[in-house]
Amino acid sequence: MKRLKFLFTAFLTALLTITLVTACNSSAPTAGGDAGRTLTMATSADYPPYEFIDTSSGSQEIVGFDVDIAKYITSKLGYGLKIDNIDFNALIPTLQSKRADFVMAGMTPTEERKQNVDFSQIYYEAKNAIVSKSGSGLTSAASLSGKTLGVQLGSIQEQAAKEFQGANVKALNRINEMIQELKAGRIDAILMEDTVAKGYMAANPDLEMNVLPNEGEAGSAIAFPKGSELLGQFDPVISEMKSNGELEKLIVKWFGSDTPAS
Ligand code: ARG
Repeated sequence: MKRLKFLFTAFLTALLTITLVTACNSSAPTAGGDAGRTLTMATSADYPPYEFIDTSSGSQEIVGFDVDIAKYITSKLGYGLKIDNIDFNALIPTLQSKRADFVMAGMTPTEERKQNVDFSQIYYEAKNAIVSKSGSGLTSAASLSGKTLGVQLGSIQEQAAKEFQGANVKALNRINEMIQELKAGRIDAILMEDTVAKGYMAANPDLEMNVLPNEGEAGSAIAFPKGSELLGQFDPVISEMKSNGELEKLIVKWFGSDTPAS
């Protein structure tokens, strides 16, 4: 009887151990996170080459530098990926209400935004540029006094433009709208990122751009809802992409030159 009781206890212990080990294993990330889950990335797909709608193929697919990085990271971690295209100004509220798992939108980690969302390390640096009609002479912040300056609503450029003495700032939702407004003469200039401006220059020979000296916050990072466990999974993959040359490859693919964030 005693022996039977011992066997039974041993059996139960073994069973419990197996159950515990299996439970731990299934919740332990294979390569991080609950693999197979589809993550929602929110973006504002008006920002080539970071993210834009590929009209060339007729597929209306959202493509770009950020999308390639997101695909690399999520597939590395075993997640699926779905992309939501919304206005830039709505991105942070979307994270706050957890309607997206992360945001990639060439978004700069500012002190103000850090109060509401968490940011990864910076993966790409950029500068601001003034875009205007060719020959307009609007080449510096000072030259914009008395002029109407277009910016994207909720962007760091909107903040920066407010510091330009005497400029009338007009905030719009989408970058293409601003380009149209400029071409129609309803605004005099646009303050936007140099890398993005470059692409619009190629398509609009009647426009010119002048890059401003770097001041204040710059660079792009991935944003997450505050306290998201994804930050700790994504950040090491960004580091890995910086050291294994993957990030550089994507920079050359989308920007044509090599100026990654250190
Ligand atoms: N880097 C700027 C910011 O964080 C502008 C980003 C705009 N991004 C976009 N997808 N339209 O405010």
